[in-house]
Amino acid sequence: MGYQLHPLDGGLGREVTGLDLAGPIDADTAAALRADWLEHGVLVFRRIGTSPEAQLALSRCFGELEPHPIELFRLPGYPELILLSNENGPVAPIYDFGDGPETQRIPWHTDLAFMPTPNAGALLRMVRKPARGGRTGWLDIAAAYDALDDATRAEIDGLEAVYLFRTGLEEMRFNQPGGTRLSPRKDNYPHFPPVANPLVWTHPETGRRVLNVSTLNIDHIIGQRGEAGDALIRRLIDHCLNPRFQYVHDWEEGDMVLWDNRRTMHAAFGHPADQIRVVHRTTIKGHVAMGRICDEAEGVAA
Ligand SMILES: [Fe+2]
Repeated sequence: MGYQLHPLDGGLGREVTGLDLAGPIDADTAAALRADWLEHGVLVFRRIGTSPEAQLALSRCFGELEPHPIELFRLPGYPELILLSNENGPVAPIYDFGDGPETQRIPWHTDLAFMPTPNAGALLRMVRKPARGGRTGWLDIAAAYDALDDATRAEIDGLEAVYLFRTGLEEMRFNQPGGTRLSPRKDNYPHFPPVANPLVWTHPETGRRVLNVSTLNIDHIIGQRGEAGDALIRRLIDHCLNPRFQYVHDWEEGDMVLWDNRRTMHAAFGHPADQIRVVHRTTIKGHVAMGRICDEAEGVAA
């Protein structure tokens, strides 16, 4: 194939070198990249993301792309590219965690954890990096499942948890980073009903078992609302957040990072709110439902 793989300085993923995005990607190379994405969970491509066209050509190796449902977040002329930029004002809430106004801090999560069908994956391209901060981390929740002891595996087998759409970090029940919200709340989001997801997913393509505890969204275990269930969630999250499962990327402009959203959590570590950060994102559509919409009693009561 026209590229090489190298271990990353962390608990998952591979760096890809030698890939030429100046011309078309041939079918064999595309298939090999897709297989490596599924095997390693995260692929890092340093400094070859020089244009929207290069990003789109690479992204299409991994599946059907999904435009953002809200047109505001689309890059004009490129419906499949999502624009994440604070160039024209804040796009994410601003908090003070003790070091001045900060934005884009998003604790560990899977994308669309509040929907029955998660994205298959996504690819970020750093267009303009802030002078300070702005790192992104990924965490291998398949390896986290593999590292559980047998008693815990038996304890969580068959359990479901309720996951909620959340618009503010202050709403998180677990792994809450604290801080003071400085920007006003927006209340014009669509309604997303509570979703029940298994605590243990089976990856639809690799068959691997995955410990699914998206910390941004998890609310309670169905049938275990109360301290015992909450203690179990805290224990599972503590287990997952071990640095040995993580890779944290310090961006350079032109870097691209691809992840498998059904096998990893990711987190944005935030940056000073007065610094500009511009990222283009593509999303690889998921086709397999992992969870289900809750009935009212499950979503609200025990
Ligand atoms: Fe995300």
